[in-house]
Amino acid sequence: MSTVLICCYSKSGNTQAMAHILADAVKAAGGDVVSKSAQDTTNDDLKAADAIAIGSPDYFSYPAGYVKVIFDEALSIKSLLSGRPGLCFSSHGGGARIKKPFEELMKSIGLKLVAPCVLSQEAPAGETVDEIRKAGAALVKAIGK
Ligand SMILES: Cc1cc2nc3c(=O)[nH]c(=O)nc-3n(C[C@H](O)[C@H](O)[C@H](O)COP(=O)(O)O)c2cc1C
Repeated sequence: MSTVLICCYSKSGNTQAMAHILADAVKAAGGDVVSKSAQDTTNDDLKAADAIAIGSPDYFSYPAGYVKVIFDEALSIKSLLSGRPGLCFSSHGGGARIKKPFEELMKSIGLKLVAPCVLSQEAPAGETVDEIRKAGAALVKAIGK
């Protein structure tokens, strides 16, 4: 089984809603999902996953503090994570300037992005839901390549 870790922080539920859609898409593509809050995510969780998805609200054009801690800790295991499929996703209020720094953080810990950062203005709906589903399938497909 291909295990995808989906970890995120969400204060008002929008990023969490994205995480749920992503989890369903991963399962539909034949993957196994481990869901964690950002606060509970450890380097052991990252090491155990075949692919890693990290979600955060856009806070001041950057990932939330709890999510940033995942990257601060993961730098020490970058060599182990190198080349592993990764995806970042974010809910924002209309600015969406989180995209570039979030993608850079993912790459900084060795992850290989399977798609650009998936963005949702507030709660996911319409085309954004389709985009999240596609990204979930791409994550599972990229495992083992
Ligand atoms: C402290 C704080 C900072 C924020 N900064 C931004 C921002 O820079 N750009 C933006 O588009 N939205 C910003 N927002 C809006 C949130 O990103 C948006 O409401 C998001 O959907 C919240 O996600 P959540 O429901 O998962 O907590 C901010 C919200 C908060 C609480």
